Amino acid sequence: MSELRIEKVWKEYGDQIVLEDVSLTVDSRAFVALVGPSGCGKSTFLRMLLGQEQPTRGNILLDGVALPSEPGADRGVVFQRYSVFPHLTVLGNVLLGKELTASRYKARLFGAARRSALDEARQLIAEVGLAGAEDKYPAQLSGGMQQRLALAQALIMRPKVLLLDEPFGALDPGIRAEIHTLMKRLWHETQMTVVMVTHDMREAFTLATRVVAFERRRDRPEEKERYGATITKDISIWPPRIAGAASIFSPDRDGPVTSLGHSRDDLAPLGDI
Ligand SMILES: Nc1ncnc2c1ncn2[C@@H]1O[C@H](COP(=O)(O)OP(=O)(O)OP(=O)(O)O)[C@@H](O)[C@H]1O
Ligand SMILES: [Mg+2]
Repeated sequence: MSELRIEKVWKEYGDQIVLEDVSLTVDSRAFVALVGPSGCGKSTFLRMLLGQEQPTRGNILLDGVALPSEPGADRGVVFQRYSVFPHLTVLGNVLLGKELTASRYKARLFGAARRSALDEARQLIAEVGLAGAEDKYPAQLSGGMQQRLALAQALIMRPKVLLLDEPFGALDPGIRAEIHTLMKRLWHETQMTVVMVTHDMREAFTLATRVVAFERRRDRPEEKERYGATITKDISIWPPRIAGAASIFSPDRDGPVTSLGHSRDDLAPLGDI
């Protein structure tokens, strides 16, 4: 279970109202795409789901329980850039979450726990198409590979909710299409609920089960600070996409993808592995 309930949430920074009276129930295993004009509060909303920011009013519940006021292992996040640590290898980045939960200060695992975490990390690295790159540093990876790494880093903690803030926005179209295939497969294979901010409508309608638009209802410059954005559109994708189930309408496009096939960014600058 991983149902999110957002109840009458407001977010204000000083005198500026960013979000106004936002209510939304996200079913367990749904994939919600959030769209809306720049500056309307999409990232702010995502940061509240993460626990990095608190609503000024209203409640956010995960499986009926109020979200703790700080990020936790039940919520993973991938940003457009800089989700991974540049001074850690691919393997180090994926292991990090496990190490931090094992020992908050030393960030080390020992013995059987380390071996099992290593196995899990290697398997996840292979699942996102990065096998062979375990010892590379992020700067030695292409943009697409870095985002695959960021996904693996978030997924090793088996989050109930995966939060994505324009994760594929900086990628070339071909590479973006490949990572969409990966994203779809991961969503089908895991139990997680996904909330993804995107500027790309095509991406929203390709991946999501539901597309939610945020907008300010009044946008006169003199009123800008006094009214926040709220949900103005809420579109359920038809035919419905269901996590783990092949679509009866277009199985090739929407069903679980069993093979990643060859991906272009795997070929990028990795001649020496
Ligand atoms: N920590 C903060 N302190 C003060 N104001 C903030 C803070 N974070 C965000 N804001 C303001 O909240 C508004 C919404 O910002 P946010 O980054 O959520 O927008 P966005 O919809 O994600 O935009 P974009 O599509 O450009 O990423 C902006 O006016 C921004 O200046
Ligand atoms: Mg943003």
